[in-house]
Amino acid sequence: MARAKVLVTRAWPAEVEARLAAGYDVTLNTSDTALTPAELVAAAADYDAILPTVTDRIGAEVFAGAPRLRILGNYGVGFSHIATDAARAAGVVVTNTPDVLSDCTADIAMTLILMAARRAGEGERLVRSGQWTGWRPTQLVGRKVSGAVLGIVGFGRIGQALARRAHHGFGMRVLVQNRSAVAPEVLAACGAEQVGTLDDLLPKVDVLSLHCPGGAANRHLIGAAALGRMKPDAILVNTARGEVVDEGALAEALAAGQIAAAGLDVYEAEPRVTPALMGMENVVLLPHLGSATHETRAAMGHRVVDNLDAFFAGKNPPDRVV
Ligand code: DGY
Repeated sequence: MARAKVLVTRAWPAEVEARLAAGYDVTLNTSDTALTPAELVAAAADYDAILPTVTDRIGAEVFAGAPRLRILGNYGVGFSHIATDAARAAGVVVTNTPDVLSDCTADIAMTLILMAARRAGEGERLVRSGQWTGWRPTQLVGRKVSGAVLGIVGFGRIGQALARRAHHGFGMRVLVQNRSAVAPEVLAACGAEQVGTLDDLLPKVDVLSLHCPGGAANRHLIGAAALGRMKPDAILVNTARGEVVDEGALAEALAAGQIAAAGLDVYEAEPRVTPALMGMENVVLLPHLGSATHETRAAMGHRVVDNLDAFFAGKNPPDRVV
C-alpha cells in the first residue's frame, strides 16, 4: 500500500524527522522558512497530511476545492491559527500536542514573572552596556514575588503547572478565573481559590498571568478596560496567545503608570512587536520560547506522529480537536 504523503512545514527535531521518514512519504523543510499562503493552498491539494506550526496561518482557503488533505497534525497545543470550522466542514481532522509542553511553558511564565518583578532585563542591559557602576542600595529595586498574589486566567494544564510552581515554590496566593468550575481537589493541590469573573480578579492581583486559549473568543480580553482595573504596581504576563492582549492598550497603560510592568512571550502579529513596547524598560520581551527545550520539542513532535499513526491506522487520534 502507498505510504501517506506528509508535509512538515518547518524544521523539526532530527529524531522526530527520522521517525516520520521511516513511516511516511515525507517532505521535510530543510530551509526552515515559513510557507507562503499560496504554498499552503497548493500543499492541501498534494498531501494527505500537513504538519503545521503556529507560524502557518491555515485559513478557510486551504480547505476550499476538495483538497487531498485529510489531517492537520499541529505541532503545538494552541490552534487559533487554524480555521477549525472550515476544517470541520471539509472533513479534515485536526490534532494538537497537549500535556507535553505544560511544564516548560509554565517555567517560561515563571521566568517572565521573576524577570519583570526583579527588573532582570533592565539589569542585564545595564551590565552589557558597560555603564554599571557597582552595587547601590537603591539600584534597580523591584518588587517581591514571594508571597505576592498571582491571578491566573484559564486554569487548564499550563495554568495549573504555573500555580504549583508559584504556590509551592514562591508561597504565592493563587486566584483563578476559569470559564467552568474547577474541581475543589485541583484548586487545593496548589492552594488556589476560584473567583467569579475576570473583573473580580483584576483588582485583587499583584501578577496576572494569561493561560486561556487565543482566537476570536478571547481577542483583546485584556484591553484598556481590563488594564484600568488592575493595581498600579501590578505585572501582566502573557504566554498564551498574542491576540488575548491589546498591545496598543498595554503600551498606553504602561506609559500612563496604570500597571507597573509586563512580560510577554507572544504577540498579536508575531514576529512584529508593537514599537512602543520595544522601547520600554519595564517590559520583558521573549521570542515565543514557551515550549523551547530539547525535551519538550522532541516530545511535541512524537505526539504529532502518534496522532498521525493512529489516524492512518484507522483509529481516532488521541489529541483530536476537530
Ligand atoms: C503552542 O504549543 O501552542 C506554542 O505556543 C507553539 O505553537
